Amino acid sequence: AAAEKDGYESFMEKEINEQPHAVADTLLGRSDSTGKLTLDELRIDPEELAKISKIIVLACGTSAYAGQVAKYAIEHWCRIPVEVELSHEFRYRDPIVDASTLIVSISQSGETMDTLMAVRYAKEQGAKTLSICNTNGSTIPRESDAVLYTHAGPEIAVASTKAFLAQITATYLLGLYLAQIRGNLFSGEIKDILADLADIPQKIQQVLDRSEQIKELARSMSDAESVLFLGRHVGYPVAMEGALKLKELAYIHAEGFAAGELKHGPIALIDEGKPVFVVVPSPRGRHSMHSKVVSNIQEVRARGAKTLVIAEENDESVQQFAEWVFYVPETKTLLMPLLATVPLQIFACELARQKGYDVDQPRNLAKSVTVE
Ligand code: G6P
Repeated sequence: AAAEKDGYESFMEKEINEQPHAVADTLLGRSDSTGKLTLDELRIDPEELAKISKIIVLACGTSAYAGQVAKYAIEHWCRIPVEVELSHEFRYRDPIVDASTLIVSISQSGETMDTLMAVRYAKEQGAKTLSICNTNGSTIPRESDAVLYTHAGPEIAVASTKAFLAQITATYLLGLYLAQIRGNLFSGEIKDILADLADIPQKIQQVLDRSEQIKELARSMSDAESVLFLGRHVGYPVAMEGALKLKELAYIHAEGFAAGELKHGPIALIDEGKPVFVVVPSPRGRHSMHSKVVSNIQEVRARGAKTLVIAEENDESVQQFAEWVFYVPETKTLLMPLLATVPLQIFACELARQKGYDVDQPRNLAKSVTVE
């Protein structure tokens, strides 16, 4: 078994470290040298795809957070409304679905019963169904009209890591493809985003090369009873994923919040020493968003929080308010989740390891939940 883990102590650590490959392999062969996306595998007539009026993303757990990240990118690039819904909520609320709706299901295993049942329901309503999946030939892609496989390789650890980054990558390819066939973006813009995506694997590697800094923090926090995570825009689903990882692996109460929501409730939770991770957007992006999140750090700090900040390299504005800062390499705002998630995965994994828990098989959880 040690050999299968490539010398790592757990599959989870191995899979975290495989993320540069997971993203690179998911990008591989899906665009040509001119920057044109070539998703011929989709099998849905591009003319039909160009006509869709709405996308509904269906998924559970970590995969649903990939969907939430995708919403920001696809709406921005394609100007198509994107709803993201937990599969098990979807068909019980009489959703509005018709032939112009594209259902995008996201599932690592392709076997999650909740998602399968939601896809079947949508099909019955006449929707087109596209599966983003990591497992070749599994049930959800087999029952869908089209499939875009993520190429993260087999994921063994119950808590998802590399599949998550591959899912975000695949939804971005889909978004860019839709923008291409619908003419929402110029080919130069698509090429430019693809070039930034192509740089992501080596930037993830830079994050991995600094993992000792995160592990040290995790080791100092094994007594934490509750940890909060704040983010805005695409940093919001990253915050929720960071919290989920900590619950799943280290059995610590954790919650992710939209940073803007802080003043509407969560700030009441802040007391002396409360650890709060804050995912800070790039200062090179929309300025007001960056400065608002920096104010949030100040606000929680002033109430005693221990502020743990994930920021972009060279963002010195956060230093004076942060107890601890981890810098990720510069990239486009929309691509930041592919980098900012990684330190949060490492943090949860190391904290759980420190507590002596089995990070590959956390209590009460299953890799693929095949019951409703
Ligand atoms: C289970 C796993 C999670 C996963 C979720 C969705 O609950 O423990 O890690 O995110 O299922 O799985 P899927 O295979 O559909 O992505």
